[in-house]
Amino acid sequence: MTLKKTRIFTHEHIDEIIEALQKGELAALPTETVYGLAANIENEEALRNIFLVKGRPSDNPLIVHVASVQKAKEYVKEMPLLAEKLYEAFAPGPLTLVLEKNEKISSFVSAGLSTVALRIPAHPLFLKILEKGNFALAAPSANLSGLPSATTAEHCLQDLQGKISYILDGGPSSIGLESTVVRIAPPYVDLLRPGNISSDQIKSFLLNYDQKFQEQYIFRDLSKKHLSSQEAPASPGMKYRHYAPKGRVFAYSLQTLDFFSFEKAILEEAEKKKSPLHVGILLSKEKEKETLSSFCAFVEKINEKNETMVLKSKLFFEAKNESPVLSASRSLYASLKAMDEQGMDCLFFPFFEETALAEAYHNRLYKACGLEEKNV
Ligand code: TXA
Ligand code: MG
Repeated sequence: MTLKKTRIFTHEHIDEIIEALQKGELAALPTETVYGLAANIENEEALRNIFLVKGRPSDNPLIVHVASVQKAKEYVKEMPLLAEKLYEAFAPGPLTLVLEKNEKISSFVSAGLSTVALRIPAHPLFLKILEKGNFALAAPSANLSGLPSATTAEHCLQDLQGKISYILDGGPSSIGLESTVVRIAPPYVDLLRPGNISSDQIKSFLLNYDQKFQEQYIFRDLSKKHLSSQEAPASPGMKYRHYAPKGRVFAYSLQTLDFFSFEKAILEEAEKKKSPLHVGILLSKEKEKETLSSFCAFVEKINEKNETMVLKSKLFFEAKNESPVLSASRSLYASLKAMDEQGMDCLFFPFFEETALAEAYHNRLYKACGLEEKNV
């Protein structure tokens, strides 16, 4: 790959970016979930470059982004009524539907599967590019494979500098976690990846839909299959380690504030490093005092014999007037990256009560820990 001069562009340069995409260049573009590394789906070399640039395994298919349901129909064998109604309810937005593809979708996009994942993103700049360009763009998250996803233009630059020419700055992603991926394979509706649109929302949508249209779909949550599962995963992306920074991530309970269960793992890390571990913690402002007093008691206990761990970084996740889970979701990747930059060996991140809102945050956090699910 030849070295490219990477520049961050603003909305004034949209036409230039559309032209570049039309010619087969890659561009990192903002979406409401995370930034995407976009390529024109009609250009095979551009598609191949996505895998090269990211270091992405070739058996992991790409999400195709389109401006409308009408455009989505160009790429599927058939658009089931349920899919159309789901898009009506949730698109443009963080919902990706997996449907039977037609011959317009190359095997680079589908990674050899018979299906294609389609999403209508809500970010105004991405939508404008799709509308003006009148094309479909394949776009995985704009990070190097395995690292936390990029939620700002700056983060795209960190991962992709020298590898692509165009990054479009559309501000920080408002949701911060990737879209909900749902496969429609009648009679099944399978949740493949949780996202901002929760499984409860999909389930209650289905209940109403079935009643209204006299159909009977069966909902399955396939997102919780373990990494070690012998079965082929429904979504190839699920089998890879994801969202992981260089340091080791630990998920602590915001309810119990129990840190002592990490003792063994911390001692293992200390044994590897030989010098004091630098540790960081993501905190709730509201519970700062209790959390730090519990955490410091833990650090003291670990340090009884010699200096094993030093608290070096404290970050907060809450934004004003917002549910804590949503703020934590928005800042998860940025906080993981920030602590990595600060050189933390161990990163402590909170988990919440198991609510629909927390589903996607927990899924990504446990993956960053190297766990598919809690307690695995
Ligand atoms: O929010 C998002 O979805 C972001 C933004 C950029 O739109 N994109 C994103 O793409 O997260 P990526 O490539 O990082 O994740 C796509 C996921 C992977 O887990 C992949 O395996 C799954 O979607 N996927 C794609 N096509 C599929 C298909 N045909 N069948 C099953 N899973 C599919
Ligand atoms: Mg990704």
